Amino acid sequence: MIPGKTEGEVGAEQRDWLAARLADAPRKPTIVFMHHPPFPTGIGHMDSINCIDGEAVGAVIARHPQVERVVCGHHHRPIQIRWAGTIGSVAPSTAHQVTLDLSAGAPSSFCLEPPAFHLHCWIAGAGIVTHQAYIGDFPGPYPFVGDS
Ligand SMILES: [Fe+2]
Repeated sequence: MIPGKTEGEVGAEQRDWLAARLADAPRKPTIVFMHHPPFPTGIGHMDSINCIDGEAVGAVIARHPQVERVVCGHHHRPIQIRWAGTIGSVAPSTAHQVTLDLSAGAPSSFCLEPPAFHLHCWIAGAGIVTHQAYIGDFPGPYPFVGDS
């Protein structure tokens, strides 16, 4: 975080700390959690307030292949990207979502798409699997026809 600003910054000291922790456990599957995405998403008004040293963060991540995900928030929208040799992921919001508008110069806005979250599961033999789950009461579950 940068006091008084909406964009984020990891900074050299915390990047060094991250690099040291990742070097401590080079074979341990790891998720790095951040608030501001260090990667672009295509939503311009949000990308303008990303992590401002994302390239430097990516250089650290890319040296550590045990990083399974870099998981972020801030953009209030489910987004996935291949980045720095891993998966960059943004969780949806548990409240409002940022409007999906990838056009250049799109205005900042939000919409009331369903709230949701990402559930990251460790599955033996498979590793980390991420599910998107919607929050609310929905009809179902209905059994598959023919299953019994
Ligand atoms: Fe934020």
